Amino acid sequence: MSVRPEIRALAPYRFAARPHLVKLDQNESPYDLPSAIKARALKHLAQLPFNRYPEMQGESLRQAIAAYHDWPIDGVVISGGSNILIQSFVIACGIGQTVLTVSPSFAVYAMSAELLGAKLSELPLNLDFSLPHQALRQELSQGSGVFFLANPAAPTGNVFSEAELRELIELAAPNWTVVIDEAYYQFSRTDFSGLAKEYPHVASLRTFSKAFGLGGVRLGYALMQPELAQNLQKTMMPFSVSSLQLAIGLAVLEHSDLLEPRVREVETERERLLEALSKIEGVSANPSETNFFLIKVSEPQEFFAQLLKCGVLVRRQDHLPGLSGYLRVSIGTPQENDAFLEAVKAITGEFATGVNHG
Ligand SMILES: Cc1ncc(COP(=O)(O)O)c(C=O)c1O
Repeated sequence: MSVRPEIRALAPYRFAARPHLVKLDQNESPYDLPSAIKARALKHLAQLPFNRYPEMQGESLRQAIAAYHDWPIDGVVISGGSNILIQSFVIACGIGQTVLTVSPSFAVYAMSAELLGAKLSELPLNLDFSLPHQALRQELSQGSGVFFLANPAAPTGNVFSEAELRELIELAAPNWTVVIDEAYYQFSRTDFSGLAKEYPHVASLRTFSKAFGLGGVRLGYALMQPELAQNLQKTMMPFSVSSLQLAIGLAVLEHSDLLEPRVREVETERERLLEALSKIEGVSANPSETNFFLIKVSEPQEFFAQLLKCGVLVRRQDHLPGLSGYLRVSIGTPQENDAFLEAVKAITGEFATGVNHG
């Protein structure tokens, strides 16, 4: 076999599907699409000629995204999930140079760097999950490549300020491209795309997988100035977004107002959960501006297993640098969140009375 040593050395993406009742492990929307949008999407699908290739660069959806964000269409690139765009940025701006990010952060930045043989530099966040400004300044004032920053941050759930980003972006010019990954921006009511409008070396990355509830459909996009977009587009395979994906994305954008109450429900539920957890001994929950949050417990492996026994699936994060003791919990429906809270109360009660779980 001629598999490259870098690929052999790479650990596969870490995810195990498990049987569950309450699924709070992937930061998805807990709801399927509203039936009015789904019906519209299915109608579009029924009319599609499946024998024909889709639009080469998904022009109709790019046009709809451009209108939605008041952005020039030449500055919109779409893909089958924003993961693919991360890989494209590494192809366009990372290979032979550096992929810079912070840690912990979204695993796909580092994975793409390793897959594609780019140099990887991961700078640890401070203990309070704030940015390591000095180390970032040092990296960005030399070398070249692509700097990925999730904002809102994942998996820590905090938001870095525009002033912090602007300083780094200015230092990064002209040798670095800065990708602000705004996968969760609807839940924080932030929008950093203005920085991409202002600076030619900045892009804002978005996904349909979270607030728009299309995790299973695989759609993402990035907003940037046309020159960067033109170059990024060269790294995408022609016809790589299917006509099925385009039709569903269009239906969602046509009715995006129907999804707004769900985002507001996530915010309300998040605050309700954090408040309830603050009263439970043995668990400390981190504030978050996303549709998930971190909890810290003394025995994460055991806690995870106990939650699973109660039918609640969350995501372990305790293997990540700076996150020992942490689990990540996505916000579910109010009923699912109640089930999570009940499970936490039962487990912490048992831990407190010293029950041995073997
Ligand atoms: C910060 C961040 N960026 C990007 C993604 C990938 O999203 P997509 O489903 O569009 O590939 C995720 C998914 O969890 C994420 O957390």
